[in-house]
Amino acid sequence: MVLKVSASFRESLPGQFVMVRIKNSDDPFLSRPFSIYSVHSRGGDTFVEILYKVVGKGTEAFSRLRAGAVLNMLGPLGRGFDVPSTCKKIVLIAGGVGMAPLSFLAERCGKETDGAEINCYMGAGSLEALVGLDRIEEVCSVVKISTDDGSRGHHGPVTELFGRDIDLHADNDSRIYSCGPNPMLRSLHELLKDRRVVCQVSLEERMACGIGACLGCVVKTKSDGLVRVCKEGPVFDIDSVDFSEDNG
Ligand SMILES: Cc1cc2nc3c(=O)[nH]c(=O)nc-3n(C[C@H](O)[C@H](O)[C@H](O)COP(=O)(O)OP(=O)(O)OC[C@H]3O[C@@H](n4cnc5c(N)ncnc54)[C@H](O)[C@@H]3O)c2cc1C
Ligand code: FES
Repeated sequence: MVLKVSASFRESLPGQFVMVRIKNSDDPFLSRPFSIYSVHSRGGDTFVEILYKVVGKGTEAFSRLRAGAVLNMLGPLGRGFDVPSTCKKIVLIAGGVGMAPLSFLAERCGKETDGAEINCYMGAGSLEALVGLDRIEEVCSVVKISTDDGSRGHHGPVTELFGRDIDLHADNDSRIYSCGPNPMLRSLHELLKDRRVVCQVSLEERMACGIGACLGCVVKTKSDGLVRVCKEGPVFDIDSVDFSEDNG
């Protein structure tokens, strides 16, 4: 979905998100959170793209919108990914629509780091669910794909695919960034727990307000106790998150 927004969105950082709802509609009543997939300007106007998967009432209503529809949007919100300009190698690990913030990150890194090599591991349920592939292939040196049903690339979880290459990437020169379902992030945490590599993950918790007021998105961390994903996140260092099954 492409949304015409105010010029202030040009300052958005990869990993930040927006809260969106259809104007003058109270079904669903609450806004829904989506990562920023890209920000671009054309003819003096600014546009934000979001990449969404239909999973319930809100996203189903989005899928029925037509050009010209008006939405209420709040953002950019939350903490984005940290990417040092001196970073030499960037590794992205995406699950499904978790590709959205990572694609924005790759696009920005291509422009702002000093020629960092970008590698991407992209997983989805099936070939049809591999969204954003063309765009990511334009900015990455290597893109490796996995699908749960084997319809494209490695047959199995994306973390399994990444696990085979881990010795190539889990070193001091690399930075790993990931977004996807919690079980995927938990597996990544397992893979990296004894490695000395910086890894940041974007968490997808259910949210009501998106601005730190309702405490509906709280998760447990190892270092800071309970934190709000919308305010202190959604991006966290993987080591700081408590990935035990009962968290979030
Ligand atoms: C920071 C952030 C960024 C996000 N970015 C994207 C994105 O770029 N693209 C995208 O498609 N989705 C993204 N999501 C998830 C998206 O917000 C939900 O899919 C959406 O709110 C579902 O709304 P709905 O009304 O369609 O579904 P609902 O009717 O509210 O729920 C349908 C089903 O989806 C589950 N669900 C709802 N929200 C979440 C969630 N946040 N995490 C896990 N399961 C959920 C529910 O438990 C239920 O089973 C993001 C979430 C967060 C917190
Ligand atoms: S969604 Fe309300 S505090 Fe995070």
